[in-house]
Amino acid sequence: MPNTFIIFGASGDLTSRKLIPALYVLFRKKRLPADTRIVGFSRTPFTHDAWREKLAGTTKEFTGKDFAAETWSKFAQTIFYQAGDIDKPDSFSALRATVEQIEEWQPSTRVYYLATSPQFYEEAIAQLGAAGLAEETNGARRRIVIEKPFGTDLASAQHLNEAVHKVFSEKQVYRIDHYLGKETVQNIMVLRFANSIFEPIWNRNYIDHVQITVAEEVTVGRRGEYYEKAGIVRDMFQNHLLQLLMVTAMEAPVKYQADAVRNEKVKVLEAVHPLTPKEVAWNTLRAQYKGYLNEPGVAPDSTTPTYAVVKLCVDNWRWQGVPFFLRSGKAMSCRSSQIVIQFRQPPHQLFNHKSNQDVEANRLIIQIQPAEGIQLMFQTKTPDAGMDLRLTELDFSFSREFKGEIPEAYQRLLLDTLIGDASLFTRADEAELAWGIIDPILAAWQTTKQPDLLVYEPGLWGPAEAIDWMYHHGCQWFDTCPVLT
Ligand code: BG6
Repeated sequence: MPNTFIIFGASGDLTSRKLIPALYVLFRKKRLPADTRIVGFSRTPFTHDAWREKLAGTTKEFTGKDFAAETWSKFAQTIFYQAGDIDKPDSFSALRATVEQIEEWQPSTRVYYLATSPQFYEEAIAQLGAAGLAEETNGARRRIVIEKPFGTDLASAQHLNEAVHKVFSEKQVYRIDHYLGKETVQNIMVLRFANSIFEPIWNRNYIDHVQITVAEEVTVGRRGEYYEKAGIVRDMFQNHLLQLLMVTAMEAPVKYQADAVRNEKVKVLEAVHPLTPKEVAWNTLRAQYKGYLNEPGVAPDSTTPTYAVVKLCVDNWRWQGVPFFLRSGKAMSCRSSQIVIQFRQPPHQLFNHKSNQDVEANRLIIQIQPAEGIQLMFQTKTPDAGMDLRLTELDFSFSREFKGEIPEAYQRLLLDTLIGDASLFTRADEAELAWGIIDPILAAWQTTKQPDLLVYEPGLWGPAEAIDWMYHHGCQWFDTCPVLT
């Protein structure tokens, strides 16, 4: 059966930076089913050849040494273009005619990819419905991929879900969060559920707290206009950080299948206690890097945070009393996404000559990127030094263990939309529950103005106040930039 990717927003950044490079690399690796075609749709007029040529340049730029002119020219034959307006029914009839011709009127699997600005999502979905493009007749498959952000709050996400469900059933819908396409994020499930040694200690009896950090060195740069509306919490927490929380905290699903996996993830969000305004003042931090106000598109008196910390509790048997600290920021010391599982102290300190606090407890560090790997920290006797102890590490690194580069997240996700595996995509209830956790934080920041918006120097681990804040919560940040080998 032919497969067709139809990309709305074909002349945009996401298409040239991520989607086409990922599809090209899949083609080069011979992972893309042989009869896959790509059709771009956007307002800018292009001939098929002009669009192919434009993509050749951008794909070369974004795939680097993976690019080979000969392979590209074969791949380019599978790419087509259809100019059109999202709000014009005629454009959709024309699209339908083009796609049917490319598919030679065979039943096909079609993936409609919304890579447009989010304001066009509803219209595009309604037009697809009106043109009969969502119907699955004669064994045909129709799927829709929706990029983030999925709404800007709970009410808009609910509204968008209703609009989607008027045209597509939930099993046809693939809401993307590219963090789930990362190998190291999927590996958290493997670490936990394909090994027997971690699960018995993965709970409140052994774990003191969890730190989930997504730090970025980059500033907001040219994205000021978007960022002013989003801020760090909508941009990173509602999706990526909550996804990392879910895979870290979920129970083992009975099967590795979309609904079984997502049921367990949803239960985590259901167990997260939404913060009251008073709790927001105490359990969150927000800050802006110095210089943000000079970025293009940013209001001179903007109070948009570019850094935040949120302490959440998962109220269930496994996690009662274990704080999860979620933290993300732009203009930080280095690029580092990691999850630190901080274990408790041993019940009785046998060896230390100093105070209890001097002996650091075990720690498991899951490095999501860029130094993909896992480190387990444990105490060791220092040789020839009496019973002095030192925290040492067992170090697993993906690059040392496995040959080849870790693939870009979009490769796996795009392939899954073709195969029809939604395990790594956000379900409707999951998106809404996530907003249900985020909305009270944003609302309290706006109404109570607490906590104060702090300022931090670019190139640090956020505001200096974060150190004391963590200390008051009885913990300490583990701020080390990963060593790249
Ligand atoms: C995107 C955010 O979803 O994720 C960006 O909009 C952020 O602001 C990016 O930079 C981070 O993704 P990654 O894969 O580089 O960690």
